Amino acid sequence: MKASAPEPADDAARSRHRKLAARINAANKAYYTASKPLMSDAAYDAEFQELQALEAQHPELLTPDSPTQRIGAAPATGFAKVRHAKPMLSLGNAFSEEDVAEFLKRIRRFLSLDEAAELAICAEPKIDGLSANLRYENGHLVQGATRGDGQEGEDITRNLLTLDDIPEVLSGEVPEVFEVRGEVYMSKPAFQALNEAQMAAGKPAYANPRNAASGSLRQLDSTITARRKLNFFAYSWGEVSALPAATQSGVLEALGAWGFSVNPLTRNCLSVAEIMAFYREVETRRGALDHDIDGVVYKVDRLDWQDRLGFVSRSPRFAIAHKFPAEQASTILRGIDIQVGRTGALTPVARLEPVTVGGVVVSNATLHNEDEIARKDVRIGDTVTLQRAGDVIPQIVGVIPDKRPAGTEPFTFPTTCPVCGSHAVRDTRANGELDVVRRCSGGLICAAQAMERLKHFVSRNAFDIEGLGARQIEAFFAAGEITTPAEIFTLQKRNDDLKLEEREGFGKTSVEKLFAAIDERRTIALDRFLFALGIRHVGQTTARTLAASYLTLPALLDALKAAVDEPEGEARQDLINIDGIGPTVVTELMEFMAEAHNRTFLDDLLAELRAVEPFDAPALDSAVAGKTVVFTGTLETMTRDEAKARAESLGARVSGSVSKKTDILIAGPGAGSKAKKAAELGVRTLTEQEWLDLVNGA
Ligand code: IVH
Repeated sequence: MKASAPEPADDAARSRHRKLAARINAANKAYYTASKPLMSDAAYDAEFQELQALEAQHPELLTPDSPTQRIGAAPATGFAKVRHAKPMLSLGNAFSEEDVAEFLKRIRRFLSLDEAAELAICAEPKIDGLSANLRYENGHLVQGATRGDGQEGEDITRNLLTLDDIPEVLSGEVPEVFEVRGEVYMSKPAFQALNEAQMAAGKPAYANPRNAASGSLRQLDSTITARRKLNFFAYSWGEVSALPAATQSGVLEALGAWGFSVNPLTRNCLSVAEIMAFYREVETRRGALDHDIDGVVYKVDRLDWQDRLGFVSRSPRFAIAHKFPAEQASTILRGIDIQVGRTGALTPVARLEPVTVGGVVVSNATLHNEDEIARKDVRIGDTVTLQRAGDVIPQIVGVIPDKRPAGTEPFTFPTTCPVCGSHAVRDTRANGELDVVRRCSGGLICAAQAMERLKHFVSRNAFDIEGLGARQIEAFFAAGEITTPAEIFTLQKRNDDLKLEEREGFGKTSVEKLFAAIDERRTIALDRFLFALGIRHVGQTTARTLAASYLTLPALLDALKAAVDEPEGEARQDLINIDGIGPTVVTELMEFMAEAHNRTFLDDLLAELRAVEPFDAPALDSAVAGKTVVFTGTLETMTRDEAKARAESLGARVSGSVSKKTDILIAGPGAGSKAKKAAELGVRTLTEQEWLDLVNGA
């Protein structure tokens, strides 16, 4: 059908549209539920295109429930970014019965529950897939997103809608706003079938079901996702206007009633013994399940307790993942390479005779550091045991001594950097011990460090420049065309000479896209900016904490300059007092600022940027948001940990010592020197009850 100007639909057009829509809907359904599809791929495509053409001609036929909207055309570029209303967290890990017992003990301590009090734990398998957030408003799916970095994911609504396990409309009484979270996964049989088809078509096979699920979900063309068989288990939630139950297990039940699949292997346990029995049961059934799992997740069942327990950095205190033991294999060690990282750390990497471990072919593994090599006496030529657990880098567990060939020699770890030749040294720590890591002292004159810093700078949680990943950085760096972050931003200006569009793998459009992506990042959030600098010990969480404390870059830089100018002064102490910062981070930050070349580096970079945006503090209307508070003395209604966590969740900063910057001191019985200092400084002092009244809005 030819495209022509829109015109009102006559009866024939309406009837044809209805018919096509019905046929395509039925075909979609059959594709998942029946073993035999209703029509061939070619017929499906033809009818789908006819439907699209009809709608182009008669726009009034294009209603939101048309199948073209459900699995529609691909957006031209990438996916739109979605900021999560509530961050999507990760879980802490437990590996043993002791870890599980410690988890329960921590919870009892935090909630101040005695041994006799019942503590129900909702346990369920940990699905090895990808998490997704599904936002329902008035029972209708309005947005589906990937986890992304936990704060910001990608809008993959159309793709998620192609899953049979994801209802477009929920059944029954559903709160006005309800974000369902769960895991998208591919079953083992679907994975096998997909790989067979991939190989038959001359395309590469996926390494495991998880990668296959990820690859299928991140297709720009959702008709491809629709043809891959993906499943979804619901297990959690994000922003909600109301909850259907007071317990984890109760909410799972409600999710089931609304139309979701919830894991049938879910059980409430009341003791370490019950938890361990469940864990072993799941482990025994693991191989027979039709999908991959990598452990069992435990969550405190009572939701009021989940609330009180809250979060530490990126994981909830009320939940933990109990991982299955790593899979092991043995192979021959062919060589040991020394890699130089972003901070100069020399890391030994084992080059192995390729071997399959847990369904993945492994040819490299980490040997950690020189002490580890010496302790295990790992030699080139040895047969080694290696293990791989989940996403972690495979590691060498040990050597099989009987298989050592004659003539091997102990490995000598280099004392100079293999890349730049500078001395590589082991620092002495504050406690007098030698640091396990040997570091290249070359700083930015070391090409490896400079390049790794650049890769870090553009990485996903830093500047995240579309089209400029590690591979491209390596090429630009090798050619001497990008050697510092600032030079990324001058690439376009220099393109008259560089002529990127004439290079292999580029082309006019992709070069334009690259420049647009770079330009877009001239405005960057403060926490990303700080993380991108790649300062040692300043990871994502620390970067966020710094951003949340100082709000703007100038404020933070002023504080750091003041600390550098007067190392014994109050500015340094204020930095150390920030909860989650501490002396190690502060020393690194000060050393960074004290180096003249780092200041030049910062100035050059800032000159290229449009804005480093002030930290976007979560909009909290609590009475204590942004205030610095200190707890002292004995608290009666809550434990110290709980008080601190609660204050932080309300947007307050909790500090360990009283200074001019303190806004409120909460003093329980037995308060001593801190109360005295607060009185001297005129800091507002509250009793525990007054504090509770303030935060509860009484
Ligand atoms: S609960 C606040 N339950 O594991 C609770 N996560 O390491 C957050 N996962 O990102 C998650 N099965 O992708 C939960 N039954 C389950 C899970 C599960 C798999 C994944 C999820 C999460 C990761 C955390």
